[in-house]
Amino acid sequence: MTWDVDMQNLNLTETSISFQQTKSIPANKIAERILHGEVVIIRKCLQKIGYFECLQKASLEGIQQAVGQEKATRIKNQGFEAVHKIIDLNELSDVSDRTYEVIRSLAPAFSKALVKEVFQTQKPFYFEKEPNVRFHIPYDIVVKRKQEFSKFYWNGKITPHGPHHDSWYQCPTNSINIWIAMGTVTIGNGLNIYPQVHNKRLPCTPEGKIPHNQYFESALNFHLEPGDALIFHGEHLHSSEINSTDATRYVISLRLTLDKPNFLESSPYRYDYIYSECNDSFKAKCTELIVNTSRQMLKKINTILPKQNQNYIISPNAVCGFDDTSTDFPKPIPVESTEDIKLAFDSQELPIGKIRPVSPKICVARLDNNQVVAFSRYCPHEGADLAGGYLRDQCIVCPWHNLPISTESGASPCQSLSKLTIFNCTEDNNQVEVQS
Ligand code: FES
Ligand SMILES: [Fe+2]
Repeated sequence: MTWDVDMQNLNLTETSISFQQTKSIPANKIAERILHGEVVIIRKCLQKIGYFECLQKASLEGIQQAVGQEKATRIKNQGFEAVHKIIDLNELSDVSDRTYEVIRSLAPAFSKALVKEVFQTQKPFYFEKEPNVRFHIPYDIVVKRKQEFSKFYWNGKITPHGPHHDSWYQCPTNSINIWIAMGTVTIGNGLNIYPQVHNKRLPCTPEGKIPHNQYFESALNFHLEPGDALIFHGEHLHSSEINSTDATRYVISLRLTLDKPNFLESSPYRYDYIYSECNDSFKAKCTELIVNTSRQMLKKINTILPKQNQNYIISPNAVCGFDDTSTDFPKPIPVESTEDIKLAFDSQELPIGKIRPVSPKICVARLDNNQVVAFSRYCPHEGADLAGGYLRDQCIVCPWHNLPISTESGASPCQSLSKLTIFNCTEDNNQVEVQS
């Protein structure tokens, strides 16, 4: 098949990392380059492999099962972006679960089509049995049922995921993530990928979260139209943006590996990867059936098989060790106790674009127009340390879910979140002083 793809990719080996770089890469190199950290967008991917209408219909079928024909028809007419305007909030979990069931039954077929056409390979591959459907309705609405949706089960499906590597959640370290927009995805309800962290596996808390004092560079964000696929290595640090728009963002995502899945030790999900032939000839179908059946038996005795016969690889955690020591990450001056407080300091210590913590509760920053601002240090959403954030368009941007907060008013686009306190701050005779 000749590809007429509009690919944007990011070569992480280059020092100036910018998503503005646009160039094509040969389709047979995509998988290799993704595992080396490049992020690829294939525009109209689903349409090109002939699956857009099928998945759109399947999604509407799931929605209809949950909320009835009349609402499903309105969503069909107004687009998935209008889901939150049409369904009741108490129907959201059912919409998600029912749609998931319908999509799951289609996963083997469309995973095969994706692998065959996108990666231009006929080799067998492994895909996750359980793809995800992700309905992110605007935060100001979903927060009304905060208690229900704060359960881990909804993390990333309905509520925004914090920064993570997929292997924190027992996914293989060689997994490729395919994140497909079913409706429009805009900046403000999409995905964050932190390119500086690729190949540096960060530690996580026992709850599987990013530690508060872990800093990393700013995120890449993406605008996607329906059918576009964003493809990236699951070991990239990534998170969801908090939905600060007035549109529902609906995405289907799946993971696969082109070689045997490489799990770290103690991976409860390792049995949920299915072996599949790409080629759909009769002979291949028979082979797949035999391989999958024998795999079902073999997985029970996998650990006692010689390595070359195992259906997956298990590496000790040490092989993919934690690394948070890189000097690439901005490390703000630690201000953790009252003794460290430094509310007055030399102007030179705060160049344009820099955020600096000055007490356990306050940060200062110098904006593009040279103005110095001081604000409370922790994000009103989930308390991320804004000392690790960055500045964009006169706003402080939270590093965890990319929420922009005004340096003038302390407000964000999410009305239900409290405002950040803005402190008075002066700059005279090359001295910055914060009045707390
Ligand atoms: S936006 Fe989520 S913690 Fe800041
Ligand atoms: Fe993830």
